[in-house]
Amino acid sequence: MVLKVRSLKELRKFAKSIAKTLKGGEILALSGELGAGKTTFTKLLLKELGIKSRIVSPTFVLMVPYVHRSKTYYHLDLYRTNSLKEVQGLGLEELWGKKNTLFVIEWAERIKKHLPKKTIFLKFEVVSVKTDERKITIKNVKKNFKI
Ligand SMILES: Nc1ncnc2c1ncn2[C@@H]1O[C@H](COP(=O)(O)OP(=O)(O)O)[C@@H](O)[C@H]1O
Ligand SMILES: [Mg+2]
Repeated sequence: MVLKVRSLKELRKFAKSIAKTLKGGEILALSGELGAGKTTFTKLLLKELGIKSRIVSPTFVLMVPYVHRSKTYYHLDLYRTNSLKEVQGLGLEELWGKKNTLFVIEWAERIKKHLPKKTIFLKFEVVSVKTDERKITIKNVKKNFKI
């Protein structure tokens, strides 16, 4: 499904509605150009899920885990990754899909072939720089999101 997001307020609304559907074990694969809104969305989503600490960009460390209640939320940014080995070194296969985890992966297209079948794909595109309008294409979800 495709969603038009016209403002940060609308993006927050979407983050809120997708947060409600997350039960644990999901993998969110975020793609889109630099500045498309992946990090902004991740921050809004993690806030919505109750994470109070500052959400920092994992560009250099690849992965930042946030523990909240009984869950661990993993934020990954693969922008600077060229080697798949580096990503494999994180031991993702042992972690993702587990009920007490959530994965949000920026630049997930870099490891597309290795992502689990049930991965939810969110592609971010800027429709208009002038108006800040974004388009989010969501794949592999049952719910029809509305803004
Ligand atoms: N509707 C919107 N959705 C997402 N980002 C927006 C929106 N409107 C404005 N922005 C701004 O665009 C920029 C997106 O950057 P960022 O989230 O870091 O992108 P990415 O992580 O995809 O490179 C931020 O400065 C954000 O405040
Ligand atoms: Mg980013």
